Amino acid sequence: MKTVIYFFSGTGNSLAVAKKICTVLRDCEIVPVSSFMNSPGRITPTAERVGIVCPVYFSGLPLMVAEWAARLDIPDIKYLFAVVTLGGSGGGPALRQLDEIIKKQTGRGLDAGFSVKMPGNYIFMYKSPEGQKRDLLIAAADRQVDEILPVIQCCERKSISRAVIGSLLKTVIYPWFSSRARARARQFSVTPACTSCGTCARVCPAENIELQDGKPVWKDRCEVCCACIHLCPVQAIEGGRKTEGRPRYRHPAISTGELESRNMGKT
Ligand SMILES: Cc1cc2nc3c(=O)[nH]c(=O)nc-3n(C[C@H](O)[C@H](O)[C@H](O)COP(=O)(O)O)c2cc1C
Ligand code: SF4
Ligand code: SF4
Repeated sequence: MKTVIYFFSGTGNSLAVAKKICTVLRDCEIVPVSSFMNSPGRITPTAERVGIVCPVYFSGLPLMVAEWAARLDIPDIKYLFAVVTLGGSGGGPALRQLDEIIKKQTGRGLDAGFSVKMPGNYIFMYKSPEGQKRDLLIAAADRQVDEILPVIQCCERKSISRAVIGSLLKTVIYPWFSSRARARARQFSVTPACTSCGTCARVCPAENIELQDGKPVWKDRCEVCCACIHLCPVQAIEGGRKTEGRPRYRHPAISTGELESRNMGKT
């Protein structure tokens, strides 16, 4: 059975999960959600099994994923699943958001939805785990994906969890996040350590960074994925005082180069 997995990923967690699922399913293609950003119209996958893998942002979906899902056309598919990666909580509300968007458009929702706990990358609020703590979290996430895989392989149904507190949080904080996200990067700054390498512009899934005189300048289509801050090779990007001195994070199995080329649609 042919499978296509659409992914969105800032620091590699969701891409690592998408790749692992794809390897096991075999006849499977990985497509970045960002590759549809500049081409309007319906999105019709040519596969019988369709997956979506993305991070949870404030108990909801990255804005780009929510917009992409509203364009999905899935008349002939047999199985639709989603996996959200997250640092702590909010997977249920994010999956329900996705389910509702797709249902509204197509009349059918997700057949299965899963949450996978991974290292958190929201650098404005906390330090991402490092060293052994990071590796243990990634090993536990791998085991979670191993449990999910047979369900997806057999196209089994799996209902989405309904935690009341998570839903309340989504109702309160996600609208706050959504209304501010796009202009968020206007608050980012670059230090003299910048070497003008251009990595930040290439890893940005939203094409939100332009180099002017060799230095990054941020526009108004930010997803707050934090990739530019985490992946700058010389840690020259700060998002205010809170990010200063905090460790940068990238999934260890996903190189910066892979994130660059996948975000640019070169899968
Ligand atoms: C803007 C933003 C908001 C986030 N909100 C949540 C959240 O509500 N709950 C959570 O558990 N993790 C949250 N996280 C952490 C990410 O969901 C988590 O680290 C994810 O695996 C990152 O995936 P990626 O590496 O594919 O970008 C947030 C991260 C960012 C950047
Ligand atoms: S990734 Fe860092 S060093 Fe490279 S251009 Fe961007 S800010 Fe400068
Ligand atoms: S500007 Fe930075 S935080 Fe915003 S979408 Fe691009 S890489 Fe992500």
